[in-house]
Amino acid sequence: MPTSELSTIAQSIVANDRGILAADESTGTITKRFDAIGVESTEPNRRAYRDLLFTTGGMEAFIGGVILFDETIRQRADDGTPFPELLAAKGVVPGIKVDTGAHPLAGAPGETITEGLDGLRTRLAEYYELGARFAKWRATLSVGERLPSRYCVRVNAQALARYAALCQEAGIVPIVEPEVLMDTDHSIDACYDATARTLQALFSELGAQRVDLEGILLKPNMVIPGKGNADQASPERIATATLHCFRRYVPAAVPGIVFLSGGQSELEATVNLNAINQLDGRPWPLSFSYGRALQASALQAWRGQSAGVDAARRAFLHRARCNAAAAGGRYDETVETSGPGE
Ligand code: 13P
Repeated sequence: MPTSELSTIAQSIVANDRGILAADESTGTITKRFDAIGVESTEPNRRAYRDLLFTTGGMEAFIGGVILFDETIRQRADDGTPFPELLAAKGVVPGIKVDTGAHPLAGAPGETITEGLDGLRTRLAEYYELGARFAKWRATLSVGERLPSRYCVRVNAQALARYAALCQEAGIVPIVEPEVLMDTDHSIDACYDATARTLQALFSELGAQRVDLEGILLKPNMVIPGKGNADQASPERIATATLHCFRRYVPAAVPGIVFLSGGQSELEATVNLNAINQLDGRPWPLSFSYGRALQASALQAWRGQSAGVDAARRAFLHRARCNAAAAGGRYDETVETSGPGE
């Protein structure tokens, strides 16, 4: 597909301050989320939960794309409409997670390589037929003593670029996701360094493997201290470090940057995104592709009960509205307290 068509899809996902709902939790991950609210992780329950999210009225004003899991892209809404069709009819682009997870990297204790390249060309063709117009591949990098290693950064960048090239060949916009994890106690400077090295290696590989930068979306971490670090930075400091890093290492040709939430609370993820969008000198739209930070309150409200469905929808819609406001740098107390209402 010509780059211009891929670029149009990528731009439409983040147009008007919209972002992405990451609803592509693997069966293992959604089971963890369901365990936390006492819901059994059966196929019908997983379908019912995704139905609740996708049929939330008005979400399309704030959500331009939804990432699905292999099981979910084949499921149908209560009225029998396949999920990808339901989303597309609302003007929300259906996407698909295509990596098969992060596995231990040989010879690199504590580090991982993301797998899923075998047979990917065939799988992408099937996902295109099922309605997917963008995809996601997530690499994870840990920060620590001498980590991430150059070896880990390089092989994950190579795999991301191979995936991205195959997606573009299939007419699918690749979301390229190198995630520097925030689950340890490193400083914001250590995160900056790891993110910088990762982005530098990534864009070098994307270039080498002939990926059109106009036809991708980048899904990175913010530059943020590890959860266990005593010096938790202010939103302004996170915003300044993040934009400084991205301006250095991400070409302006990229049509959008959509952050992951990565373990930030719902509120932190919104406040930090807003702080980034209040800074000058942003060559790309900076929006969200949140999983936990869009769903935590909705899951708590739902708890698998039909009586919780309306409250869960309101909670999801509220977080979507707040994050779209943050993507426009317009989020404040008034937006936060305007909902979700009862
Ligand atoms: P979180 O926002 O919960 O980090 O999930 C986003 C995602 O898709 C990670 O791959």
